[in-house]
Amino acid sequence: MEKVEVLMTQMVESLDDSYILELFQKVPKGKRLRAKLILKIAGLSDDSYKLAAIIELIHAASLLHDDVIDDALTRRGKDSINALFGNKTSIMLGDILYSKGFAALSIFSSNIAQKISNAVALLSVGELLDVKLSHSFNDNEELYMNMIYKKTASLIEAASASAAMLVDKDVKIYELYGKNLGLAFQVIDDILDITQDSKKLGKPSLHDFKEGKTTLPYMYLFSRVDDEDKKKLLSLFKKDLSQDDKIWIKNKMQESSSLDDSILYAKKLGSDALEAIKNEENDSLSKIITEMIERDF
Ligand code: IPE
Ligand code: IPE
Ligand code: MG
Ligand code: MG
Ligand code: MG
Repeated sequence: MEKVEVLMTQMVESLDDSYILELFQKVPKGKRLRAKLILKIAGLSDDSYKLAAIIELIHAASLLHDDVIDDALTRRGKDSINALFGNKTSIMLGDILYSKGFAALSIFSSNIAQKISNAVALLSVGELLDVKLSHSFNDNEELYMNMIYKKTASLIEAASASAAMLVDKDVKIYELYGKNLGLAFQVIDDILDITQDSKKLGKPSLHDFKEGKTTLPYMYLFSRVDDEDKKKLLSLFKKDLSQDDKIWIKNKMQESSSLDDSILYAKKLGSDALEAIKNEENDSLSKIITEMIERDF
């Protein structure tokens, strides 16, 4: 992964701007799931390292924008760039990382470049849909799945497919694997927002509902409680939650198996991903699924 880090820094250094480099160095490193995925599919080569660095740069750009959209003051255990320098800086640094990523993409074949740029367009459509859905309590599962496919799964799907393209593997297989991995990944992220504390997550916890995001466990909960509890849940939507409110939500989710069933749903998506690659004999890709489901941040 060291090579990927170096390449990411080099792409930013090529701007020859010490302030931007300084800002970039304040962006903490994440789990590097997308890079890992590419290296496990395409193997270790100059091109696969480059592709992995590009995807991580693009992903970092999306998070710089996401933290502005979500009013999130922490990221990866540190103060977010918007918390430290304001929204304008976070947005523009995001634009710089996107552009540097796209510029570097141009050395790859057009099918790879198109796959990734299309996914980034979808990611932004998905982020916008997320904002739109958060205006009122969304209890439509189909809309939620479509939104998380776009905002999260599309880039993971494209990372997986483009890695397959790089080494002439069957793109359809890896695309399906990446899509289901990406969907499961966001469902787990949404569960962790409820079950983990901010320290563990490195980003705000129980923050989604305050931001108007009725993720899968909230939709399950809403459909499973009586009218009185439905009313109470709606009254907490987008509010600053007291300690008692938080405990109430978590207890109701436990009682109604809303969290457990959301985990089961993520596991089902994970097994769909595994099904797609069952003949590929790549144990590391199976391990990625298990680790992703069992992760706690
Ligand atoms: C965060 O992605 C955004 C989502 C798609 C949920 P990651 O959880 O992969 O973030 P880092 O890169 O590890 O911080
Ligand atoms: C964002 O989803 C996914 C992106 C495409 C950036 P979230 O808003 O749930 O991601 P976190 O929880 O802030 O990492
Ligand atoms: Mg967010
Ligand atoms: Mg968001
Ligand atoms: Mg989240």
